[in-house]
Amino acid sequence: MPQIPEKIHELTVGQLSARSGAAVSALHFYEAKGLISSRRTTGNQRRYSRDALRRVAFVRAAQRVGIPLATIRDALAELPEERTPNHEDWARLSEAWRSELDERIKQLGRLRDHLSDCIGCGCLSLETCVLSNPDDVFGERMTGSRLLPERRNAPEPKEKRSA
Ligand code: FES
Repeated sequence: MPQIPEKIHELTVGQLSARSGAAVSALHFYEAKGLISSRRTTGNQRRYSRDALRRVAFVRAAQRVGIPLATIRDALAELPEERTPNHEDWARLSEAWRSELDERIKQLGRLRDHLSDCIGCGCLSLETCVLSNPDDVFGERMTGSRLLPERRNAPEPKEKRSA
């Protein structure tokens, strides 16, 4: 990755992309989602502060372990004065996200175990396939299609409309 000389305080989107390893389109997406910000030059070009490098590194590291962008954005928004996350911030947040990841890994393990029952089957039965109907929540409450649960509980219309 190319080094950015210390005397340069603002980066073009190309420089930020080259240094961070994130595609230009990803940087635009991060900006649209409020994860990084830029100012516009008189020629309407984006300029990012050097801090954006650390924010992009933070976002990419969190994404690599499967943290949703909305969660990352919330974490960044909680930092005082929207400052760039420092070493302690990352340590604290990654610790908090660890239990979330552990739970997701457990769920994936359960899905993997059930998948071996499905391999070569193809039934996708709502009664017997655990992947097709995990936990069978609707099956406990009602019979028939689980795609129309609201209609079953909705009150009857008071009057019918004529066509
Ligand atoms: S597809 Fe038949 S059990 Fe899952």
